Amino acid sequence: MTTEDVAAIVEELTLAEKVGLVHGATDTEGTATGFVPGVDRLGVPPVRLTDGPLGVRTDEPATAFPASTALAATFDTALAERFGRALGREATARNQDVLLGPGTNLIRVPHCGRNFEYFSEDPVHSGAFAASVVAGIQSADVVATPKHYVANSQETRRAEVSSEVDEPVLRELYLPAFRDAVGAGAGSVMSSYNRVNGTYVSEHERLLTEVLKGEWGFDGYVVSDWFGTESVVESVNAGLDLQMPGISASELLDSMGMSPDEEGDGDGASDSDAEANDEGDSAAADADDEAGSILDPDDGSDFVDGMPDPRSGGRYAEALVPAVERGDVPESRLDDMVTRILGSLDAVGHLDGVTESEPTGGGSSDDAGAIDTPEHRRLAVEIATRGTVLLKNDGVLPLADDADVAVIGPNVDEAVLGGGGSSEVTPFAQTAPREGIEARSEGAVSVARGLPRVEGVSLFDAMGEGGEDTADGGEADTADGSENADETAIDDGREPDVEGAVTAAAAADVAVVFVRDRATEAADRDSLRLPERQDKLIAAVADANDRTVVVANASGPIETPWLGDVAAVLAGWYPGQAHGEATAAVLYGDADPGGRLPVTFAPAEAYPTADERRFPGVDGEAAYDEGLLVGYRHFDAAGDEPTYPFGHGLSYAEFRYEDVEAVGPSTVEVTVANVADRAGREVVQAYVDSPDAPDERARPPRELAGFAAVELGPGESATVEIGLDERAFGRYDASHGWTVDAGPHVVSVGRSSRDRRGSATIER
Ligand code: BGC
Repeated sequence: MTTEDVAAIVEELTLAEKVGLVHGATDTEGTATGFVPGVDRLGVPPVRLTDGPLGVRTDEPATAFPASTALAATFDTALAERFGRALGREATARNQDVLLGPGTNLIRVPHCGRNFEYFSEDPVHSGAFAASVVAGIQSADVVATPKHYVANSQETRRAEVSSEVDEPVLRELYLPAFRDAVGAGAGSVMSSYNRVNGTYVSEHERLLTEVLKGEWGFDGYVVSDWFGTESVVESVNAGLDLQMPGISASELLDSMGMSPDEEGDGDGASDSDAEANDEGDSAAADADDEAGSILDPDDGSDFVDGMPDPRSGGRYAEALVPAVERGDVPESRLDDMVTRILGSLDAVGHLDGVTESEPTGGGSSDDAGAIDTPEHRRLAVEIATRGTVLLKNDGVLPLADDADVAVIGPNVDEAVLGGGGSSEVTPFAQTAPREGIEARSEGAVSVARGLPRVEGVSLFDAMGEGGEDTADGGEADTADGSENADETAIDDGREPDVEGAVTAAAAADVAVVFVRDRATEAADRDSLRLPERQDKLIAAVADANDRTVVVANASGPIETPWLGDVAAVLAGWYPGQAHGEATAAVLYGDADPGGRLPVTFAPAEAYPTADERRFPGVDGEAAYDEGLLVGYRHFDAAGDEPTYPFGHGLSYAEFRYEDVEAVGPSTVEVTVANVADRAGREVVQAYVDSPDAPDERARPPRELAGFAAVELGPGESATVEIGLDERAFGRYDASHGWTVDAGPHVVSVGRSSRDRRGSATIER
């Protein structure tokens, strides 16, 4: 369909039909997170939008891919594009047209409850991943929705906090990944709940209309976050195009089979209950009665601090027709909204069946999608494996095939699928850590949990007050692995205790301790320490066995008070359904640990956001006055030694760097040699020394400009070429915009922001 064809449809639409296309409604099939009914008369098919970044969330299973941080840790953008395509295909298989992802926010606050949905603390790195995932999703004929635009760095009071951030910092750190995502063809962008410098993003004309649509030439649509609009006329005139969910909280919960129980006994309601209660529920909806749900601002639940008020702002469904009739919103603006929405849908083939003379219904039916295919299962394993970061290894890893292993940890029987909130996915199958090791080991395996299960947090459990459980570890089948004859389950049949874990550890060649954090949308972590008594468990096990390996499955950085006592540490993020299989592949050296840190690991008080003015903010404002000094930029500038720097990650092989050379204005080359007797994968990183700023602003010493990975057999070497991002050479000048200062720019090449092996100079 051409632009003229889309224009012809818009021409045909009545005012009411146009308004019907710019807000959500109740999904007739009850599968979508957001739903737009379409216009039957003209053959414009209904549109279904689904979460989210880690897998497709409907009420049916889907592949539970590793968290975005795990994907980012691969430093492999080709893998990210394959992931995006698989995600798109799974969306299509579930009859969904739009994916609400990828999570594109820069990781500024290590405590942020949604860091696992985001990529990185570096804008070039985040941008490369956002762009690749977007390109993959769109290539599967599904609209991608990078979110949440912009400066949404925390969950605490996310619906009203104002990110106080000045222009150069916004330009250099928080906007670039969105720009890259848009450049990669995203058909949609989701606005965030928060305010930026006092104005809600959903009403931020400069950010939505001037920067995103104007400067960047974005011709897709801006969708609100759910209940993330504060007005009708202001948001529409500022550039918001689609209001979601467009219905009341009760109607939304009802359509998801999560109605708060009428008797208030917390049972939740099944789909059939929801139908039976239809009348009562719509009456409740009319009155906007949200009682019994955490969407109720008076509910008092832990999440309320992080939830939007579903009653604020007004609905496009009711207020937009009169606003156009009054002239408060020009009809041309409404036409623009509809054109943007239809244009993005058309770009993925959604309107292919529509012709003016003969409406047939649309949809890209030639590609029916695919879900839970062997290819997608393998991809989930590949990302989780490659994203696993070997933080420390004193030689205990890789494990010998026949080592006797004690598998320890409160959650060894379940895969860590993700954090709580809108990204929760229920997989078809999962491998628990215990199963992964049992399947791979040729020695004896004992299992000792050591502590009672550490529960994840499910926002949806809280929303439905006991409704359907889609949270991690809840529903999917986990085999018990009892086929392994060598297993001695120390604490099977008795309450797990630290003593049992110590006994198991003492009797084994190696103790592998699996620990996890607990993170969710709508709340930030209150500490970077592991929850419950997991730190104590590690210390006790390490005391009993010198060959103790810790596998940490966390949403972001964690504190590691036991670091000096253990022999090896893996950061496995939230690995998704392939948890056991992927971790075993790395532990036993079937794969080289390919991951590198996309975030700095340090004690909480060492980050700039330890200042409460910066996080969670004071009087409704979070001061971004650390400026450009976020993540490794801060630690480098302060000369502070973090626990582990950005980019860090060990290999089982060993690499030598030689001959760093500039081969053009934006390219460096380096020869990398694998000097070990085993194959390995090296991630080569290039950092550009930051220019001196003519103003007072503190600049970081250096910034990531590019990266490339190389797989090398024993004794092999290769020349690796790294393309350098132009923005790393520049700075955003408040009066002149992006500026590259003339003169020599030093480019260092190495293994992390701290471990640089050589440099070259590029003249500008
Ligand atoms: C989240 C979005 C999500 C939406 C729909 C919101 O609470 O912030 O990321 O896409 O819900 O589930």
